[in-house]
Amino acid sequence: MRTMDELHLAGKRVLLRLDLNVPMQGSRIADDGKIGACLPTLSYLLARGAAVIVCSHLGRPPGAPDPAFSLAPVAVRLSEVLHRPVMLAADTVGPAARSAAADLAAGQVLLLQNLRFNPGETSKDDAERGRFADRLAALADVYVGDGFGAVHRRHASVYDVPIRLPHAAGYLIQAETAALDRLTQNISRPYVVVLGGAKVADKLPVVGSLVAEADQVLIGGAMALTFLAAQGYPTGLSLFEGDSATARAYLEKAAQSGVDLILPADLVVAPRRSPDEHAEIVGCSAIPADRMALDIGPRTADLFTGRIAAARTIFWNGPMGVCELAPFTAGTRAIARALAESSGFTMIGGGDTAAAVHALGFADNQFGHVSTGGGAALEYLEGKELPGLTALN
Ligand code: 3PG
Repeated sequence: MRTMDELHLAGKRVLLRLDLNVPMQGSRIADDGKIGACLPTLSYLLARGAAVIVCSHLGRPPGAPDPAFSLAPVAVRLSEVLHRPVMLAADTVGPAARSAAADLAAGQVLLLQNLRFNPGETSKDDAERGRFADRLAALADVYVGDGFGAVHRRHASVYDVPIRLPHAAGYLIQAETAALDRLTQNISRPYVVVLGGAKVADKLPVVGSLVAEADQVLIGGAMALTFLAAQGYPTGLSLFEGDSATARAYLEKAAQSGVDLILPADLVVAPRRSPDEHAEIVGCSAIPADRMALDIGPRTADLFTGRIAAARTIFWNGPMGVCELAPFTAGTRAIARALAESSGFTMIGGGDTAAAVHALGFADNQFGHVSTGGGAALEYLEGKELPGLTALN
């Protein structure tokens, strides 16, 4: 990938694609890790005399402006951490953005409104995406891609704009890909992968390729239910997605290739997903019909943390349960502590996992690398071509 020092930046307008898709609680930013992660690139561009036009998506609005997905809270936080004003344009490529971009001086920062307020950003139609990319590219002289969490999306701001402007990768993309390369080349073994969280249908395909690379795959969270169901166990009222036939095929593949694919031995169950529920511990084959699994149980936590302690490389994506509710934090906390105490190379993948770990009181410097991109990191590990990286080559 081209690097920023190959670009002529002084006096230029730089369109900087970031992933500022931070977790929100109403209009409050629940975790600002992604905002901190973009500071090295922003500071570099400003120090080199560029005028910086930042663009990002937030959430998944349906291709039209929606105040619930405004980047206004992000502009405020970005300005605080950058210690300089950040102007927010009222639109993305409309008159407000064009005039603010045209007036932007060296050392100033403008944030465009949510890219996904425009149907062209995510369109599957190349021509429609291209027209939106033309309008974005017209705002700037140069493009820097640093939104690692979005590089797996063939979206206008990620893929089509860099084709239209001189471009380079920012520091976050470089750091993320360098860390991920430690999980694909010359891996220090044993290599343990811990998978959890929801979005099982999205993540299930990566289990196949991880089974080929890892020595042990530990599965918790909602993903575990898909595998337990594949073995014929009842799942009660638990969140259940994904397809059992694929899960069964991965169990067979793991057994044939000598990889340990380890499922929970016990689970914490309750009648509802609520902080006030009476939680009980049951064996993995005994989830009652009127209960849902909301965390891994203590025997599973011991089993998983024992494997993590003996590993030299550990990659973790996805909480072990509904860790935002007090009765169900223990499993995720145990995994976070085991990674923090490991002397091997540890990587946490995904904004949601990072936010969960921060909420439990852990800091980024307790881990080898905290990735800002969950889906992007998993697709990188799967060996898929990532449009946002291809475009920066
Ligand atoms: C993320 O949070 O994983 C990235 O911002 C990508 O968001 P998306 O899944 O809505 O494209």
